[in-house]
Amino acid sequence: MNLIPMPENVREKEGFFAFEGESIIVNCADELKDIVPMIKSTFNLKIRRGKKGARLCVIYSETEKEESYSLDVSKEKAEIYAKTYNGAFYALQTLNQLFSLEDGKIPCLRITRDEPKYSWRGLHLDESRHFFGKETVKKLLDFMALYKMNRFHWHLTDDQGWRIEIEKYPLLTEIGSKRKGSQLGNWESKRMENISHEGYYTKDDIREIVLYAKKRCIEIVPEVDFPAHSAAAIASYNNLACRDIPCEVPDFFGGIIPVSRGVDNWNRTLCLGKDEVISFVFDVIDEVSELFPFEYFHVGGDEAPVTEWQKCPLCQERIKKEGLSNEVALQGWFTNKLNAYLKQKGKIMIGWNEVLAADITDRDIVAQYWTPKKDKNVFNHLKNDGQVILSWHKYFYFDMLHTYCTVKGTYNFTSKTAKIKPEWEKGILGLECENWTEWTDEEDELFFKLWHRSLAMSESAWSQEIVKNYKDFTRRLQCHKKLAEKSGIYYGSDEMTMKVNGLKKNILSKKNGFELKDFDSEYRLSKIYG
Ligand code: ACM
Ligand code: ZN
Repeated sequence: MNLIPMPENVREKEGFFAFEGESIIVNCADELKDIVPMIKSTFNLKIRRGKKGARLCVIYSETEKEESYSLDVSKEKAEIYAKTYNGAFYALQTLNQLFSLEDGKIPCLRITRDEPKYSWRGLHLDESRHFFGKETVKKLLDFMALYKMNRFHWHLTDDQGWRIEIEKYPLLTEIGSKRKGSQLGNWESKRMENISHEGYYTKDDIREIVLYAKKRCIEIVPEVDFPAHSAAAIASYNNLACRDIPCEVPDFFGGIIPVSRGVDNWNRTLCLGKDEVISFVFDVIDEVSELFPFEYFHVGGDEAPVTEWQKCPLCQERIKKEGLSNEVALQGWFTNKLNAYLKQKGKIMIGWNEVLAADITDRDIVAQYWTPKKDKNVFNHLKNDGQVILSWHKYFYFDMLHTYCTVKGTYNFTSKTAKIKPEWEKGILGLECENWTEWTDEEDELFFKLWHRSLAMSESAWSQEIVKNYKDFTRRLQCHKKLAEKSGIYYGSDEMTMKVNGLKKNILSKKNGFELKDFDSEYRLSKIYG
């Protein structure tokens, strides 16, 4: 059985089921009829609904859960049991994997009540550092759906680019979505590519993608990162910062370049002392939340330096007026304001775990736990019935080298790895991988970095521990390359991703007819030579 993620209860039977001809009769329960167009596009077949001669049956079953399904495949017919569109869709993805793995035949089997371990099986994409555009995003959503991932965290704003149209503040995209060049290589590199980089999504683009995702059972969580990571917004509207001075969207990502250029004010935060900044933030939240029907909204909150706030009279006045103890408490005041605002709009706030550093008045927020260091505020949040998404740097940052964030590490990750006690487990929403793109500017490179590890995460997030087995997973992974190739997804080669040692001799090898890409060899070299 080669499925990823692996169901718990599978019984294999003799023989195969195959669709014959170009059309089939589907007997679909009325409650689940919305799945019919998906069946049609998945198998590229003409479909007629009917009972007599039906070879694919979609049966409404009250006993299934929100995301679960059962499946019974015999030589004569395939039967899907589901209570919801999502359940039926996941059954369809299972059939789709089997169908593609076996070249159009589906092995006869019975799967009973396949259901996810976690409700949050997320994948994040940073489109600020590099803008990939609609087609790549749709390809990524198709990929997620095939592996039953259901949350797309869209990082739409950061220092190096603002990527979403906001009607009230047109300069955010007129100025903030463009930069004159890009730093290449890594944090220590001074290499520059002096080619401008730009792009943003119009409101219509966003609506199109939200709908595309919804059909694939994926909810999109927009992230607008406040109060730090705001250099693109500040370049568009200089008054958003404490010091109202002209500046450009940075053409570097950080590290050595600003140091060598003597630029020390590029990652300034939004000024939290100005009421007009708070109004700006609320206006942006209004326009963004209108586009995304999902109830969760990510406000960022990570890596906020306090130096500007320390020197700003308006920020200091705010601290005094609100009776706050220091600048960390000032960010806490802002977080509480954001949460109250989102809450009255019916939204649930997500923030990176740094937002827990200050007192928060309300535990109805979700913390996304990413920091490489252990954060006791996260444990405290869980103790107080708060909710957490696990994205630990070493296990879920897929922009990192495969030697640091390994396929095996991601596969074997459990909440225990993050020192979460069993009694706090109820507060864990699930897992999410982060795909930051400072050093990733091509679609192939993006997939090369995420392919192996997101399959590992998909199984960690969906399958119960008792069915997980790393050795068997790596065997199944090999089979799934065929599916990647079919969808034009580049996965690089195994010498680089699966093994840590013995790479030197493989530097020039080619795998499965794939050309070795420049970034592959760079990646290998960096692995071999540190
Ligand atoms: C982060 O990686 N700064 C959330
Ligand atoms: Zn200020």
